[in-house]
Amino acid sequence: MPGVVVIGSVNLDIVAKAPKLPAPGETVTGAELHHFPGGKGANQALAAQRLGADVSLVARVGRDEAADEALALLREGGVDLSGCIALPDVSTGTALIAVEPSGENQIVVAPGANRLLQPDELDIPDADAIICQLEIPADTVARAAQDFAGFFCINLAPAQHVDVSILQRADLVVVNETESAWYGVALTACGGMIATTRGAGTATLEKGGAIIAEAQPPRVDAIDATGAGDTFTAALTVALIEGRSPADALQFACVAGALAATRMGAQTSLPMRDEVQAHI
Ligand code: RIB
Repeated sequence: MPGVVVIGSVNLDIVAKAPKLPAPGETVTGAELHHFPGGKGANQALAAQRLGADVSLVARVGRDEAADEALALLREGGVDLSGCIALPDVSTGTALIAVEPSGENQIVVAPGANRLLQPDELDIPDADAIICQLEIPADTVARAAQDFAGFFCINLAPAQHVDVSILQRADLVVVNETESAWYGVALTACGGMIATTRGAGTATLEKGGAIIAEAQPPRVDAIDATGAGDTFTAALTVALIEGRSPADALQFACVAGALAATRMGAQTSLPMRDEVQAHI
């Protein structure tokens, strides 16, 4: 089994499944309320584990009930949480999410303990690959990129300024089309592959300015897109470090991401490897 370390966020997602997403200043009523374990880091960790990797999560949570709820599925799924430390006097990260019937969402995150995952406390276990995202301090991601010699994947979500050394170092950068537009020409600094997702549209894998693979996600009845991008990121990393070709790896990631959109919640929706294989 490939070994993967995810350095990233843990959130408790408080989700309102609403008849529509609110416009600025608008109140929408009639929603159903749910709690789901989430956070881009935690979602990617559990997705990689369910897709066949042996995963450790390096993260920070509070010493609160939200942490128990947020970590429950990771524990059940066998993710190594010895690097996930509970800190006093801070809350576990929380995401407020509205989801409309088409599956589209809006997310606001209160990072809480995720902000306290500092570079000088980073202890990276041995692994074949690291996956990071940007819900933890960018300096911590930069330190991981510098200290780790194996396959390094960065999911540039949510979009924010990062040191160019991260882009130059990354073997794989993953963005959706909104993030791709936000970074613009900055992405030309990337030394490795760039994967771009486009919702139900064609996903691409580029290297050195040339497209090396394209894949079409399967048509599915999407009910909640939360966690689909995290699943895509984890699946693509696992498939590439297993030695699959760029085209096969991208297809695997597209199917995994699409399946995650067919169920409610982030971690509750992450597919198992057999389910993804059966759809290919
Ligand atoms: O990518 C989806 C995740 O973004 C949610 O689980 C939420 O916690 C936010 O971090």
